Amino acid sequence: MASTSEKTNILLLGSGGREHALLDKLSQSPRAGKLYVAPGNGGMLALAERADVNPESPVEVAAWALAHSIGLVVIGPEAPLMEGVADACRSVDIPVFGPNLSAARMEGSKKFAKQVMGRAGVPTAAWRSFTDEAEAAAYVARLNGPCVIKADGLAAGKGVIVAADAAEAAAGVHECFNAFGSAGNVVLVEETLSGPECSLLALTDGKTVVPLATSQDHKRAYDGDKGPNTGGMGVYSPVPMVTPEELATMTGIMERVVRQLAKDGTPYSGCLYGGFMLTPEGPKVLEFNARFGDPETQVVLPRMHADLVEVMLACDNGTLSADMVSWEDDWAVAVVLASAGYPGSYEKGKVITGIEQAETLPGVTVYHAGTKLLDDGTLVTSGGRVLAVTAVAATFEAARERAYEAAELIRFDGRFFRTDIGMKAIIGRENL
Ligand code: AMP
Ligand code: GLY
Repeated sequence: MASTSEKTNILLLGSGGREHALLDKLSQSPRAGKLYVAPGNGGMLALAERADVNPESPVEVAAWALAHSIGLVVIGPEAPLMEGVADACRSVDIPVFGPNLSAARMEGSKKFAKQVMGRAGVPTAAWRSFTDEAEAAAYVARLNGPCVIKADGLAAGKGVIVAADAAEAAAGVHECFNAFGSAGNVVLVEETLSGPECSLLALTDGKTVVPLATSQDHKRAYDGDKGPNTGGMGVYSPVPMVTPEELATMTGIMERVVRQLAKDGTPYSGCLYGGFMLTPEGPKVLEFNARFGDPETQVVLPRMHADLVEVMLACDNGTLSADMVSWEDDWAVAVVLASAGYPGSYEKGKVITGIEQAETLPGVTVYHAGTKLLDDGTLVTSGGRVLAVTAVAATFEAARERAYEAAELIRFDGRFFRTDIGMKAIIGRENL
């Protein structure tokens, strides 16, 4: 094993705000050696060199990592996990942060996740799965009311339809079977839960589970949770409405699932993301993701004290311990700046200004997502979610105000953001 003074060269896969936040934290580690990203974005290239490798090709990533003396491959998004990139790197003895394919199915197959939850005795919505569209259609017709329809596989956050009545359920079944390619070969129909949502990320080496701080994403595009679902328009951490009992239940659920996966012969290492609904009967699992959340990472990591290189290596080699991570007693709010039209179609190539000015505000960091640096140094938009503006402060109100003050300073044509990120924490659970 590497001595603690040894530097580790790192290859980080991904190009979102999550990856920029991970890179920022990795770069602060005394153990960080040379940093590479594939493909990265306009902001990440200030901290790392671009690696010319396809992040979704297991063979290419493993070969590139070997050729460049990489001591840690960090997998940001889900797609490389489901291609088996972690397995390929581990097979040539390169440490990886992220689960092998068999365990990444916690995100890659909703049915697999439900079966693990069932064996682990973890509370989640009642469900049934179908491979035949007519059978699923007959089932939702019999239910004749609200239900949730989900494509089994990866559908870029779009494969979930919350149906208010039988007609929406029928349309949802048709969409899931036909609009998501092979991700919709299996379709789940589940019970509708209600309550506030909360994300809990946890680091694990397959045995030890270290929960990170709670956070709450805002998935809808517009204020008041209106409009289409997005990758996430803003987030805050911690979530004050979560009671200590609920947090203990959620932590216990994460531990039971990790234990079950080890018992099943599909041990999980990396970050396990639990998406919970705080129902009147207690927290229940909506979904698991096999990676850090985006934008959750942009508020959780800035509050975390840890040597992220050490922690990630420990997740891979089975030496993770709770004392590697501690928390600042502060608050973080992140507001996502998006391109007009997102999550539908949008224009790219709009010049971005004001980031430097925004970052002069105390506690403010601007994480890049859909940005690109042109050869002449101009920064332009290149995606739907363009930037996440994070502010950390001693009080929730101060963090929220600072994040919006910074967001206003940043300009690009078609910029839009939600103006109510964090309002749920302010108005309180009883008024939701
Ligand atoms: P998922 O990707 O499974 O987390 O689903 C996306 C969103 O759909 C969640 O954040 C919830 O807002 C909603 N959702 C998913 N499952 C349910 C459920 N069983 N009951 C109510 N809402 C749900
Ligand atoms: N913020 C939702 C996700 O990362 O899936």
